[in-house]
Amino acid sequence: MAAARGARDHARAAYSGFRVGAALECADGAIVTGCNIENATYGLTLCAERVAMFKAISEGHRRFTRVAVVADTEAPTSPCGPCRQILWEFGGDLEVILANLHEEKGRYRLADLLPLPFDARML
Ligand code: THU
Repeated sequence: MAAARGARDHARAAYSGFRVGAALECADGAIVTGCNIENATYGLTLCAERVAMFKAISEGHRRFTRVAVVADTEAPTSPCGPCRQILWEFGGDLEVILANLHEEKGRYRLADLLPLPFDARML
C-alpha cells in the first residue's frame, strides 16, 4: 500500500484530477508500481493497474501474488473492467487490496471481481 501511495504521486491526471497508484507484487517479492496516465484524447488514458502490469511484464516478471490500488476516496476504488481482464490474463487470481491514503478499505480475490472470465482456456 505504501508503494501504491508513492506511485500515485506520479499520476498524470490533468483531465479528471483523479489520481491513482498501484503496486504489483511479483512472486519473487519485487514490487512494480504504476500510476494513471491520462491523455488529451481521453480514450488513450491508462489506468494505474495496467501501467504496473505492463511495466512488470516488460521487465521480465511472469508470476504475481497481489496488487494494491490506492486513491484519495472514502469508498474503495476498484479496478475497472479492462484492468480486471488484463490483471487476470497475466496475474490470474491475484489478491486485490484496495486502500485510500490513510487505511486499507478491503481485500478481494480477482476471481470474485471477474467471474466467468474469458481467457486462453477458451481458445
Ligand atoms: N483509474 C485508475 O487508474 N484505476 C482505477 O482503478 C480506476 C480509474 C483512473 C483512470 C482515469 O485516469 C481516472 O482514474 C478517472 O477515471
